[in-house]
Amino acid sequence: MNTLRGFSLLLYAFCCLFLSYSFALNTLKLGEVLQSNETLVSSNGVFELGVFSFKESSYKYLEVWFKNDTSKKVVWVANKEKPLVDSYRKFKIRHDGNMVISDRRRTQIILNNEALAESNETRATILDSGNLILIQREKIIWQGFDYLTDTFLPGMKLGWLNLGTNQLRMQFLASWLSPFDPNPRPFSLGLDPVNRTQFNVWQKDRAFQQIGL
Ligand SMILES: *[C@@H]1O[C@H](CO)[C@@H](O)[C@H](O)[C@H]1NC(C)=O
Ligand SMILES: *[C@@H]1O[C@H](CO)[C@@H](O)[C@H](O)[C@H]1NC(C)=O
Ligand SMILES: *[C@@H]1O[C@H](CO)[C@@H](O)[C@H](O)[C@H]1NC(C)=O
Ligand SMILES: *[C@@H]1O[C@H](CO)[C@@H](O)[C@H](O)[C@H]1NC(C)=O
Repeated sequence: MNTLRGFSLLLYAFCCLFLSYSFALNTLKLGEVLQSNETLVSSNGVFELGVFSFKESSYKYLEVWFKNDTSKKVVWVANKEKPLVDSYRKFKIRHDGNMVISDRRRTQIILNNEALAESNETRATILDSGNLILIQREKIIWQGFDYLTDTFLPGMKLGWLNLGTNQLRMQFLASWLSPFDPNPRPFSLGLDPVNRTQFNVWQKDRAFQQIGL
């Protein structure tokens, strides 16, 4: 009996050790869950990703920041317009291979809506560039750098994306609604759709400032 208890304790200690280290990692795999107090860290420790909220707001976002930045200034947000509302927040790779976040309301928000997984052989990785990627059978099917917030990092692109496909769209940087609300507005920075040698800062739909190349 004592031996069994000793063994259970050992097993328990081992599991705890394993759990507390399991997300000092850069990758989330099928069935794994990132809890509210856990983060993913890119392989060289440059960027960190987790579901957090500002003290000033009860909304929670899946965010990326420089790991060594003590102020945790957010450089990228996955769910800008779809915040989570309670502390029971999770990020996981669902049974169907898609990345989802959820809270107590149980509505799962799919992050890679624009490129749904076709199999559950997927994993999500935060790279040392700050890019969150969803890999399906060794192919990147979705990347956070295709959906910018207000910060431009090396490797990001502004202007037309997916040229020559039916998913052509314009990529902008957009200012936050407030320091605690990443809803995109009222200012944005992007390529002028007519004069493609020029970038504009837009205020809603009005060009506010023109920046030539
Ligand atoms: C995260 O929170 C859970 C539940 O509150 C706790 O059991 C776990 O030890 C915490 N993990 C870390 C890494 O702090
Ligand atoms: C944080 O890391 C970046 C890149 O690795 C480096 O350039 C920067 O100086 C570091 N900042 C601090 C405050 O350590
Ligand atoms: C992954 O997909 C396969 C085939 O559809 C299915 O049999 C398996 O149960 C799925 N795995 C999980 C963990 O949901
Ligand atoms: C396009 O923008 C560039 C840079 O601002 C400017 O020099 C050029 O005159 C513009 N061309 C047209 C046709 O407006």
